Amino acid sequence: MGNLNYLDKKGTFTLDDPDLTSYMYFPLANEAGMMSSITPDLNGDIKLDQNTFLLEPVSSENLHNNKSSRNFWVYVEGKGAWSVTGRSSKQQAKLFEDDKEKVKLTAGIMWHQVERESDEMELKAVMTSFVPNTEEKVELTKFEITNTSDKEQKITSTVAIPLYARSASNIRDHRHVTSLLHRTFTVKNGIMIHPTLTFDERGHNKNKVYYGALAKEEVNGEMVSPISFCPVTEEFIGHGGNFENPYYVMKNEPLPYKVGEEVDGYETVAAIRFEDTVLAPGETRTYIVALGFGESEAEITEISKKYLITKHFDRYLEETKEYWQKKINVSYNSADTDFDNWMHWVNFQPMLRRIYGCSFLPHHDYGKGGRGWRDLWQDCLALLIMEPEQVRQMLIDNFGGVRFDGTNATIIGSKQGEFIADRNNIVRVWMDHGAWPYLTTSLYIEQTGDIEFLREENTYFKDAQIHRGEDRDERWNDSRGNKQMTTEAEPYRGTVLEHLLIQHLTSFYDVGEHNHIRLRGADWNDGLDMANDRGESVAFTALYGGNMRNLAKNIKAYEEKTGKNTITLAKEILILIDADKSIYNSIGDKHAVLDEYCESVKHIISGEKVEVPCDKLIDVLNGMSDWIGNHIRKTEWLSDKDGYSWFNGYYDNSGKAVEGDFETGVRMMLTGQVFAIMSETATKEQVAEIVKATDKYLYDEKIGGYRLNTNFNEVKTDLGRLFGFAFGHKENGAVFSHMAVMYANALYSRGFAKEGYKVINTLYKHCNDYNLSNIYPGVPEYVNQRGQGMYHYLTGAASWLLLTVLNEMYGIKGQLGALKLQPKLLATQFTNGMASATCMFRGVNITVTYQNPFNLEVGNYRVKEIYIDGEKYSDGDTIAKEDVDKLGDKSIITAVLG
Ligand code: G1P
Repeated sequence: MGNLNYLDKKGTFTLDDPDLTSYMYFPLANEAGMMSSITPDLNGDIKLDQNTFLLEPVSSENLHNNKSSRNFWVYVEGKGAWSVTGRSSKQQAKLFEDDKEKVKLTAGIMWHQVERESDEMELKAVMTSFVPNTEEKVELTKFEITNTSDKEQKITSTVAIPLYARSASNIRDHRHVTSLLHRTFTVKNGIMIHPTLTFDERGHNKNKVYYGALAKEEVNGEMVSPISFCPVTEEFIGHGGNFENPYYVMKNEPLPYKVGEEVDGYETVAAIRFEDTVLAPGETRTYIVALGFGESEAEITEISKKYLITKHFDRYLEETKEYWQKKINVSYNSADTDFDNWMHWVNFQPMLRRIYGCSFLPHHDYGKGGRGWRDLWQDCLALLIMEPEQVRQMLIDNFGGVRFDGTNATIIGSKQGEFIADRNNIVRVWMDHGAWPYLTTSLYIEQTGDIEFLREENTYFKDAQIHRGEDRDERWNDSRGNKQMTTEAEPYRGTVLEHLLIQHLTSFYDVGEHNHIRLRGADWNDGLDMANDRGESVAFTALYGGNMRNLAKNIKAYEEKTGKNTITLAKEILILIDADKSIYNSIGDKHAVLDEYCESVKHIISGEKVEVPCDKLIDVLNGMSDWIGNHIRKTEWLSDKDGYSWFNGYYDNSGKAVEGDFETGVRMMLTGQVFAIMSETATKEQVAEIVKATDKYLYDEKIGGYRLNTNFNEVKTDLGRLFGFAFGHKENGAVFSHMAVMYANALYSRGFAKEGYKVINTLYKHCNDYNLSNIYPGVPEYVNQRGQGMYHYLTGAASWLLLTVLNEMYGIKGQLGALKLQPKLLATQFTNGMASATCMFRGVNITVTYQNPFNLEVGNYRVKEIYIDGEKYSDGDTIAKEDVDKLGDKSIITAVLG
């Protein structure tokens, strides 16, 4: 297996023999909606959404099975046919031989280049692919074919790309019938399809989309059109043939169609033939292929005019590279340049997730695009760091998804702030959902100092689901829209703070038999979905508790900043606030409070508002937070027979604690530890104990660090489907990056820097070692039992990693708009006594350089002096908010440690 090497500090890398690793894919996309995946042999697919695939949808297994890849053939006179992408039966048969073809991949953010060389053919091909960052929905590939022999060679070049041109669902829902919808025609530079109708879950509709594959070659500086075509798959491959052994290529016969012909009702291939040419020794011939979508034939023709010109291709490629690099405005300079490069990809990943959602890459062959509630808020974390301007309104809009009972809409529309009622009536409540908006809001407030944000207003979501998913509002009629209404028949509007309070206060009362918040449909761990009745998540109860304490602090800051000592809230919320603290121990009383509240808001609400003193709210929130912390510490701290201690994080549907000593072995889960640490439920001493226990039971360096759980050796149907997965995979005990990174975040935040570093460093070292992880740079969703990185690119782990490295490891953090510098870098992370990071802070680009002249270890240093653009600013570790406002773009901040 080849080594992966970085070529610069912007994530560009090379890799030899990428064709000897299976299941690798690479994203190419733009913000106009183009989403491609591409492999070293140019397999993969291209789509705009679930119903609009240009190339046939691929799941991971198709990456080795599929013959329908983007192919380009060169027939060499006297030698035969060569697939420049390696997808011919003959080349496949030689893959494991010593004299296999040399293949090399070079790739950077949103561009992909493969070189392939054949000694037998004496040809070399360089294939460069990208999706331009423009409004057009097109993917471009330039094929450069060079004669490496010392003799002339006569070649015939043929593009052969099967076009699917329909909905993903038609893969096994009328695959053949939907080919009858194809209206396929040849144009000057290629082949287009305009299906008559679309058949998918939306019904049968008139189709609007044109699909096209166009190509030109460069001859003496001129771009020249192809000479013949074959749009019909069965004709092109010939009886008995296939896409890796297609008749017309193997026989090198002229393709049977000319420009301007139409042939309808068949599976389509864009087979496009160029004039024969003689390549002199060392001569290179260039071809450009465009694969795209349009609303008319003319739109696709325009694409060919714009992009099928070599110098345009080169220019758009450079512009696209620059565009994405500019977007990644966070970077690092540490002793480990590979880490800095790897983080470059991690920083880019949240942008991919915004484009692809959680679908549309080969492992992500589920969902139909779009993101879930959790993802929505977590993606905002990265946005807050990288593109903060847009985020304020986005956050306010997102709060429009909260229901008055504290749960939320789970189907998210395509427009910002659009939430859709689930018409399938699937009532599912994820108990963690109410906790994430606060984390994002809190980061926003700390970064910006915009505490007044708490009084911004938005509506609430309303559908038939009431009583936190336990009942239906039979009087609700969706035709009236999806907003919570008042008795005045007006949509009710409440503040951001009110939304947050409702989410937390309702959860506080929504407890199970052990007085922890009920698990319901699941929490963060989607796989814990079989304990709806009696399950409890201690893990997220801790997080809610921690949030409440921080929210109380925010209210204090709000009071101080605005001088307002009351908060305006919907009258009904008083039920949740006024309950006496003495009932917190009583599960029955808690239910009674929650029921009374849910009953009062189940249909329309009064619309009346009351003023609640800030002090009172602060007291209530602190009271609840303290109660949760004490309760968890008192009831869930456990020790096993070997003396290791940690928190039990869950109760199952049998009402039993999930973790501890069992006959089948020790059962431990990471999630409960993460949130106990993050929320400060765990004391410092307990954090130290937890670290020992996780190191003992969950740590496995061979697979990148900390597993999500130990092996329960049981298909635990009273807790969740994840126990059906083989151990070490996905949510059942893999190193699940998201939770591992949150573990690091929690450890750093509590001052356990070395321990936090260990989490990140082990994960990074594993993922970045291509020979172990088999993935390109970046953080995958998880690492499986064999060390393979899985579900690459689209994961919430990236946002959290970005945040953890910048805010915790580098300690560059907002504190109500001031800039706090509290690095927790290990001595080994400095190079020549320096480590620096560049990022955006409150609209300006800053570079913070830490000087550690005495090479002090973390824990033994703090920021002693700050210099701004060379001038001494202070002897502390903070730049005040008003001084941050004076920082110019590209400010250089030097912080001396001592
Ligand atoms: C994925 C889902 C996320 C869920 C997690 C655990 O994580 O996207 O919503 O909480 O699995 O089940 P991700 O890939 O974002 O790390």
